[in-house]
Amino acid sequence: MKVWILMGPPGAGKGTQGDLLQERLHVRKLSTGDILRKHIQLKTPLGLQVQSLMAEGHYVSDEIVMQLVAEELKEIQGQDVLLDGVPRTVVQADALQAMGVSIAKVIYLAVDAAALVHRLTGRRLCPSCKRIYHVDTNPPRQMGYCDHCVAVELIQREDDQEVRIRTRLSLYEQETSPVLDYYRAKGMCQDVMAEGEVEDIYSRVAAIFL
Ligand code: AP5
Repeated sequence: MKVWILMGPPGAGKGTQGDLLQERLHVRKLSTGDILRKHIQLKTPLGLQVQSLMAEGHYVSDEIVMQLVAEELKEIQGQDVLLDGVPRTVVQADALQAMGVSIAKVIYLAVDAAALVHRLTGRRLCPSCKRIYHVDTNPPRQMGYCDHCVAVELIQREDDQEVRIRTRLSLYEQETSPVLDYYRAKGMCQDVMAEGEVEDIYSRVAAIFL
């Protein structure tokens, strides 16, 4: 099993690029944010436990997240995996190493901080198929509705309110930037300029896989 890590601040395009990589290169995307949101949607005990924390833009505990990752990795053994949103703390990076996960490359999506708030405040999601839209840069054909699911209204994530976005960005600087430094020091990280057309960014990211 080869494991790739997609890193970048909130709004860098990890979900957008991760979905394309999964669809076209058949690498299995493992997004801790998506897994946690599914628990919230299904109102599982874990979902109820983390709901308000995530809505406010705070991190879920390392123990909970790494337990989920260990379970998922066990289930998808044998496939190449793309981690999106994890590790997010140095503790999580150490835990991944202790699990014996062999990391092929860490891909860092670099985006100017000024662009991130605009990307996140304008993001809309399909609650059914999880496709990601943006009201300006990637609008659906009929405003407010998914292009692929009949009559399904798009939603805005609770943590995509501007004040919560600011919390997430500062948490990223404090907790997740050191993870990038950790991988850089090991010579495992490759930066990708992640502004401009989604397809151009995809070509740059996919080139690292091939
Ligand atoms: P998570 O879901 O991982 O959120 P995030 O890291 O904040 O990242 P986002 O999903 O907001 O952004 P993205 O980079 O995927 O951007 P996207 O492609 O959607 O985590 C959510 C929460 O879960 C965390 O806050 C935490 O509470 C918890 N959590 C998850 N993992 C955890 C962990 N390991 N430890 C602890 N807690 C954890 O794009 C954003 C927008 O930009 C979209 O509208 C898109 O259309 C648009 N866009 C994309 N590319 C472009 C482009 N090139 N040009 C213009 N617009 C673009």
